[in-house]
Amino acid sequence: MGYSDQFFRSLDVDPSSNSEIGQLSKKTGIPVPRLRYYNEGNIVPTGSDMSKIEATVGIYELDLAVRMGRLDHATTELLQEHASEILELIGHHRRHTHTPFPEDLLPVFETDHGQLYQEDCLSALKTVDSDSVDLVFADPPFNLDKLYPSKMNDNLKIEEYLKWTEAWLRECIRTLKPGGALFTWNLPVWNSQVSNFLHSRLTFKHWIAADIKYSLPIKGRLYPSHYSLLYFVKGQKPSKLEADRLPTPTCPNCFGDLKDYGGYKHKMNPEGISLTDIWTDIPPVRHAKYKKRKGANELSVKLLDRIIEMASEPGDLVLDPFGGSGTTYVVAELKGRRWWGCELGPCDIIVDRFERISEDRSHLEKIRADINHLFPPSVKRERERRGHWTPESVAHKNKPTNDSAESLALFEDGES
Ligand SMILES: C[S@@+](CC[C@H](N)C(=O)[O-])C[C@H]1O[C@@H](n2cnc3c(N)ncnc32)[C@H](O)[C@@H]1O
Repeated sequence: MGYSDQFFRSLDVDPSSNSEIGQLSKKTGIPVPRLRYYNEGNIVPTGSDMSKIEATVGIYELDLAVRMGRLDHATTELLQEHASEILELIGHHRRHTHTPFPEDLLPVFETDHGQLYQEDCLSALKTVDSDSVDLVFADPPFNLDKLYPSKMNDNLKIEEYLKWTEAWLRECIRTLKPGGALFTWNLPVWNSQVSNFLHSRLTFKHWIAADIKYSLPIKGRLYPSHYSLLYFVKGQKPSKLEADRLPTPTCPNCFGDLKDYGGYKHKMNPEGISLTDIWTDIPPVRHAKYKKRKGANELSVKLLDRIIEMASEPGDLVLDPFGGSGTTYVVAELKGRRWWGCELGPCDIIVDRFERISEDRSHLEKIRADINHLFPPSVKRERERRGHWTPESVAHKNKPTNDSAESLALFEDGES
């Protein structure tokens, strides 16, 4: 990983030459480790280090930032002011970079609801009509040097990975209908960099944090504990945004309350609590019974069920450019959505999964049986048996309203 030595190159220093880096250090008075830090993180120096570079190398912050590809809003404004001249210089390059369009693309697998293509997403997406998709979900490789069955390069230079990400996102956005939703699942380090691009073309809805520990604790870092799910829509408002409601947590042993609801019990919505932008109930797919392929990160059926339910209607078209084990496609199929997918690597796992779709169907049924109730049916039975309150037992008080559910959310956070 890492960047492509833009810092050293901008200063005309050979990144592989210790002596040239040493000379730069001597000339500027900036220690070698700090010069290497700027280079490795593609970070524009600030403060006295920048003054030293200006004074000794004669390159100014604006020049350096542009050469390093680090454009802030002030620089962007300058580029805008000189757009005609700049486009004259660079427009030619952009117009001539294109991904081939596969004329004779045939699905490797299809059902009445969807088609799967074994193809690079950048070219396969070209065959999808503009403004035709209701929901895009994407779970790309994370550039963590993982070995995928497709043998794609998962260890790109940072700017190459981001450039590639913007290229497939640009295509996905083109295919979205106005009002359509785009969700992209990634590590915070990537989604935080990609969000600026998305903000320039779509309307931001949410940064959803899915609380799943994904790496071991490392000294000097906080324990990485959430994946980022970015949620944007095309145009001003979503065609559909209707989230499932979740059960309120109870003690796994005695089925009693974990929170003191005090006099608010009768105000709780019997259909469950409102979904927030922090999801703590998405399981990692580790259990052999549910995992469809070894090694790669397969997402939970529960995650895709939630997204597809929230942002699409039956009959809508769901697109996922990174098939993997086909989680998006089977969930879309089971929920009566149309789907479109592609996968660069072998697709037999996805085909095989469809052949055994009854396993995912019963898994999905179990998931759905427990949501949109304040207490899942099995928990409610236990609560009744043990004499704990249920929505029915406190129903003689006021009827719940959405407003009261909201005030309860504040109450639960201890704000009122
Ligand atoms: C993280 S996995 C997706 C897992 C999937 N969400 C699931 O639940 O099974 C990413 C997948 O994208 C595939 N892939 C990588 N680059 C691709 C490309 N350019 N076009 C299509 N698929 C690609 C990889 O082979 C891998 O199977």
